[in-house]
Amino acid sequence: MKKTFLYSLVVAAFLVGCGDDGKSVTDSVKSAAAGAVDSAKEVASDAAHSAVEGAKDAASGAVDAAKEGAKDAVEATKDAATSAVDAAKDAAHGAVEATKEAASSAVDAAKDTAASAVESTKEAAAGAAAAATGAVAAVTGDVDGKAKFTKCVACHGANGEKKALGASQVIAGWDAAKTEAALKGYKDGSYGGAMKGVMKGQVASYSDADIAAVAAYISTLK
Ligand code: HEC
Repeated sequence: MKKTFLYSLVVAAFLVGCGDDGKSVTDSVKSAAAGAVDSAKEVASDAAHSAVEGAKDAASGAVDAAKEGAKDAVEATKDAATSAVDAAKDAAHGAVEATKEAASSAVDAAKDTAASAVESTKEAAAGAAAAATGAVAAVTGDVDGKAKFTKCVACHGANGEKKALGASQVIAGWDAAKTEAALKGYKDGSYGGAMKGVMKGQVASYSDADIAAVAAYISTLK
């Protein structure tokens, strides 16, 4: 553009220098200027076009580069994801193994506990059975001593605190063996004082168990 413009000015100067007619010079200058403007327009247009092309190429290159970059990033992401999945698989496998082992130990422990619980239960059951047998024996042998004492109350007092018919000793709290011996003695006639006949009538129908029961009850009286 510069060159063309200068060239146009030189032409204009030449025309100015050679011409005498002022109008013709002016026209020459005008046409030279017009030519210069056209040239400038053309050059500007070319430059703009080139700039657009350049920008297009640059943009295209940038797009390609971005595509490549994105592709690489996708590959890298794929790799990372694959590794992560593998790691997760390994971890999950390890966890499953650990859980299996823990469960296995828990089952063993539970088995042991159950076995000892069964043993304990057996022992407890055996003990309970023995206790039940003993309880049954006690109940069977244990006649209600208090009930058997009911008919004695009239003479000996509700708590065995009286001297029966003013003749007996106070029997409250007597040792069971002592009472038992006395009552058995009254029953077979081997014990007692002047009024032992009264007592013989009282205990004649009493079995050994009845006597033991009432004797035990008397030992608890105060
Ligand atoms: C009707 C009154 C009467 C009744 C009821 C009676 N007793 Fe007696 N008991 C006597 C008398 C009287 C004696 C004293 C007899 C004697 O001389 O040994 C006596 C004596 C005893 C003795 C010995 C005390 C001692 O002094 O050696 C015992 C024990 C006894 N009685 C227990 C009983 C029991 C147990 C009953 C109920 C099953 C009972 N008695 C019911 C009147 C009674």
